[in-house]
Amino acid sequence: MTPSNNLPKRVKIVEVGPRDGLQNEKETIAADIKIELVDRLTQAGFANIEAASFVSPKWVPQMATSAEVMSRIARKPGVVYSVLVPNMQGFDAALAAGADEVVIFGSASEAFSQKNINCSIAESIARFRPVAQAAKQHGLRLRGSISCAFGCPYQGEVTPDSVADVVRRLRELDCDEIDIADTIGVATANKVHAVMRRAATEFPIDRLSGHFHDTYGQALANIYASLEDGISIFHSSVAGLGGCPYARGATGNVSTEDVLYLMQGLGIDTGIDLNAVVDAGQFISAHLGRKAVSRAGNAIAARRQS
Ligand code: HMG
Ligand code: MG
Repeated sequence: MTPSNNLPKRVKIVEVGPRDGLQNEKETIAADIKIELVDRLTQAGFANIEAASFVSPKWVPQMATSAEVMSRIARKPGVVYSVLVPNMQGFDAALAAGADEVVIFGSASEAFSQKNINCSIAESIARFRPVAQAAKQHGLRLRGSISCAFGCPYQGEVTPDSVADVVRRLRELDCDEIDIADTIGVATANKVHAVMRRAATEFPIDRLSGHFHDTYGQALANIYASLEDGISIFHSSVAGLGGCPYARGATGNVSTEDVLYLMQGLGIDTGIDLNAVVDAGQFISAHLGRKAVSRAGNAIAARRQS
């Protein structure tokens, strides 16, 4: 099937389940389980997997095993394994762990910036500057993430101009890719158009990504709206894992299985094996003792059994 309208013919799906998905789990998950999850995702064909984060373990205890995870995953040549780093301490750990890409993560909301990384937006950019320089010096890819680009749990409204302002500052740090993130999943399609189009005035649209959470059930509609604007990079989480420790009530990222099912139907190439992702989703959900939060994943798993 050929893609409808003028939608991109191929998209990159960045699998963020092992980091964004698992970081909020209350029970400590053994490194072996995280490693098996990453390995299954590698086998499924992702070109980019967000595998870990080197943040303060006091702030996010679940990510304390990140060095072990990064040292024991079975890497496939050409796959980019990304990690989040908030400062130089995180960068040094990421470099030692052999990360291919570091992600500096800021916010379009002052209030969320304080809650999540304990500093203002301006302070965060100053803190990211040496990280960005070190990443370039060591030949690592550099991605910038902008949380709360469509709304904030603490300050409410976030304007497209304030998103664009952070996009510009991250561009000045020479980011290769910039994520526009709906941390609390409040966006609807018209807001997506407004924010993506404004962001694209500051940064090439083919290097902007959509990172949607599904709290209000709008994530697939928001992805479709982003496709209409020409966005061709999306983040998703196997089995819809996730939630942010500093955004109460926010549910998981849009599930990868649902996104792949949508792309298949639209005739958009992802290079990823949906069946293998369904298996990975059923694996991690069984380990967590609950049903996957993926309509397509659960439907495919049920059909196999019948
Ligand atoms: P702070 O307390 O202001 O930092 O936290 P500090 O520099 O004063 O250090 C305090 C302690 O943390 C010290 O240890 C440091 O060594 C340690 P102590 O002396 O007390 O024993 N520390 C570290 N340890 C390991 N790795 C590090 C590190 N840095 C300091 N890199 C800080 C500031 C930024 C560190 C903290 O707020 C933090 O780690 N925040 C991370 C929060 C986080 O990971 N949130 C979730 C990810 S963001 C997200 O999910 C959104 C996203 O998915 C997009 C979306 O959906 O919107 C990306
Ligand atoms: Mg997220």
